[in-house]
Amino acid sequence: MKILVINGPNLNLLGTREPEVYGTVTLDEINRELDAYAQSLSREQSVGQPAEMRAGQSVGQPADLSAERAEQVELSFFQSNHEGVLVDTIQSAPRSFVGIIYNPAAHTHYSIALRDAIAAIDIPVVEVHLSDISQREGFRAVSVISDVCIGQCMGKYVGSYKAALGMLVAHIAANNEDDETYRGKVDG
Ligand code: DQA
Repeated sequence: MKILVINGPNLNLLGTREPEVYGTVTLDEINRELDAYAQSLSREQSVGQPAEMRAGQSVGQPADLSAERAEQVELSFFQSNHEGVLVDTIQSAPRSFVGIIYNPAAHTHYSIALRDAIAAIDIPVVEVHLSDISQREGFRAVSVISDVCIGQCMGKYVGSYKAALGMLVAHIAANNEDDETYRGKVDG
């Protein structure tokens, strides 16, 4: 199950960018933590709850990937500050990936081009924000992206990305038993 993680403008500066808002963790560190989390997920384990929260397992303990039909979640990462590059990336993603985790950053609040790119593809997208955009400036409370995504995770820093990954894997698992042929329409 190949999933693309996309980060938009200025997120390459995480670590030093407005640390009082976004924390001090770098984008590389977020990606590494998310990649480690992906290892603990499988199609069966993802439905409903994170793998490490299953009964009998302590937090942080690697999940048992030997379960029948368990499947590796493989992440790829992409960051750009450029709207057109992000449109191209989203358009081509269905050729290689079964879903997208996307922090559109400032584009969240105004980019109809990126909204239309998401609407044009047939793989599910989950919107992510480190901060809680509903509790900040008024202009940030508006997302022109959210209603073409299957969900929105925000306000938990790296936890937002993990929640998005769990949501996406569960959605894909619930919608298709065969990732190689998965191109199903998102039904919300
Ligand atoms: C952000 C929130 C956006 O409003 C802002 O423009 C960002 C980051 C977040 O992750 O909290 O760049 O998407």
